[in-house]
Amino acid sequence: MNAATTAVPVIAIDGPSASGKGTIAEAVAKELGFHYLDSGSLYRLVALAAVKEATRLDDEAALARRALHLHATFEGGEIFLFGQKVTDAIRSEECGKGASRVAALPAVRAALLARQRAFREAPGLVAEGRDMGTVVFPDATLKVFLTASAEIRAERRYKQLKEKGIDANIRTLLLELRERDARDSARSVAPLQKAADARELDSTGLGIEDIVRQVLDWYRQRVAGSQHQ
Ligand code: DC
Repeated sequence: MNAATTAVPVIAIDGPSASGKGTIAEAVAKELGFHYLDSGSLYRLVALAAVKEATRLDDEAALARRALHLHATFEGGEIFLFGQKVTDAIRSEECGKGASRVAALPAVRAALLARQRAFREAPGLVAEGRDMGTVVFPDATLKVFLTASAEIRAERRYKQLKEKGIDANIRTLLLELRERDARDSARSVAPLQKAADARELDSTGLGIEDIVRQVLDWYRQRVAGSQHQ
């Protein structure tokens, strides 16, 4: 990273699965006219590519190579993998599970690091995931750790799937969420954890607009504070 890139502000939003990070990060980015990074989609793309190519999800070296040479493009809300539209395919529970497995492999995480940092472009970036504030953008202007009870998160995921016409069972979703939380939090590299300097926001019982407003208020306070130093 050079001085020009580190001067570009980053808002890092981390948290567990289905905590609403994506919706919040996108809305904050839109409000500020910033770029947006959904880092989980990169892990999902690696998992999808692996399944398509019949690569085993524990073959760390092969997966890291795939991550390094992942031909993925993001265009107007759509995601393409090797030219094929995979926006919906990577959202499946199956792909989420695979992503959580490949994300536990240090070589895969290392291979995706530069690609994530390249999203840092003027006028700013809102990046969401699990380790945005701890590993990828440790110098972020604002770090938010977004949480919500597992029950609320399972309910949100259930509604999202239903809206897409995908059949789901709320109890299975809750079990899977807990399993994924445990794996994402217990892994040895870049586990899901709140950065020491992150602000925690529990979204249980809050509406999307309230959360977005809170993040924007914190960001504006940070910017105003740094200008007065
Ligand atoms: O946010 P998501 O559900 O799309 O993420 C899919 C998986 O990728 C998740 O189980 C954990 C992993 N992930 C990660 O390890 N680090 C990130 N920065 C983002 C996602």
